[in-house]
Amino acid sequence: MTTATAAVLYQVKQPLVVEEVELLDPRPGEVQVRWVANGVCHSDYHLMSGDVPHPLPVVLGHEAAGVVERVGAGVTSVKPGDHVCSSYIPSCGKCGYCINGQPTLCALRDSPRWFMLDGTARFRKNGVDLHHYLQVAGYATHAVLPEPSVIPIRKDAPLDVVCLVSCGVLAGAGPVFNRAKVPVGATVGVYGCGGVGLNTIQMARLVGAAKIIAVDVVGKKLDWATEFGATHVVDASREDPVARVQALAGGGGVDYAFEVVGTQRTIEQAVLSTHRGGTTVVVGVSPAGTRLSLDPQLFLQQRVLTGSSFGAGHQRTDVPMLIDLFMDGKYKLRELISRSVGLEDVNHAYDLLLQGEVKRSVAVYS
Ligand code: CU
Repeated sequence: MTTATAAVLYQVKQPLVVEEVELLDPRPGEVQVRWVANGVCHSDYHLMSGDVPHPLPVVLGHEAAGVVERVGAGVTSVKPGDHVCSSYIPSCGKCGYCINGQPTLCALRDSPRWFMLDGTARFRKNGVDLHHYLQVAGYATHAVLPEPSVIPIRKDAPLDVVCLVSCGVLAGAGPVFNRAKVPVGATVGVYGCGGVGLNTIQMARLVGAAKIIAVDVVGKKLDWATEFGATHVVDASREDPVARVQALAGGGGVDYAFEVVGTQRTIEQAVLSTHRGGTTVVVGVSPAGTRLSLDPQLFLQQRVLTGSSFGAGHQRTDVPMLIDLFMDGKYKLRELISRSVGLEDVNHAYDLLLQGEVKRSVAVYS
């Protein structure tokens, strides 16, 4: 057993409590990691606000990078000293989904992902078990994870930057090359230009999309969108984004629309922005209970509405690949980080995120 400092959610609509907790030893098939950094992602906030119900108390954070400290018996993919990113969707490599090339849909998702694979916790405080958010618990200086939840990465990559790849970067960029498979010269619309949507925009540029039309309601985010490669911006607080995107794209609408907000309105707008036969990919996480209202005629016209989980590809190879692109100077990651904070300032980082003041903040521990 050791101790860790962790940010714990005890009650919805209450600040996270940053405190010392007990961390039990890794069991067979588990890995103890010293987290170095964790990106401040909106998904955790859905638990803090209660929009997504979750058992409490829980150590939040699911976008982490760190160094392996110890491994339990039978662990073969990493050893102490290895650098890793977290994989908030584990990949077992053995189930039908993994074998058939869809490891972000791995069967391990069918079990609750708030404890280890044996159904027990490794965090404890005053005799009470703490849940591990998505089996990652990145808002902790140390954590234990199932082996399928860690992805080995190159050691020369800065952990306080590449932690972002563990969720927001792959979630935003992956749908472009894995799900939509956007070809050179395509027209693309992106609804939502925060820390995830900027990656959709950046990857659309990298694969050679001709028009990249960014939509948001916050002027500052539209400025960011331009920095990351948008060719046109639409302020949806001032004009009807559907009509504007269609006009800018020409030909009845965009070839591909990406929805990176997670609301009924923006998903419907994204679909309506595509021309006949166009494809819409939902990337944003909607609050529980969200429903769509769309004319089925849209789909008789061969439009496709699909979605993406953690990049919709192969997380164990996509994460290192994106890190390689960054290390080669072909992909912007540092520019995504508006500020770094200590673990004790995570609550404040969420305030700024909600105010639309930051692209991404990163909590850094050492
Ligand atoms: Cu996330």
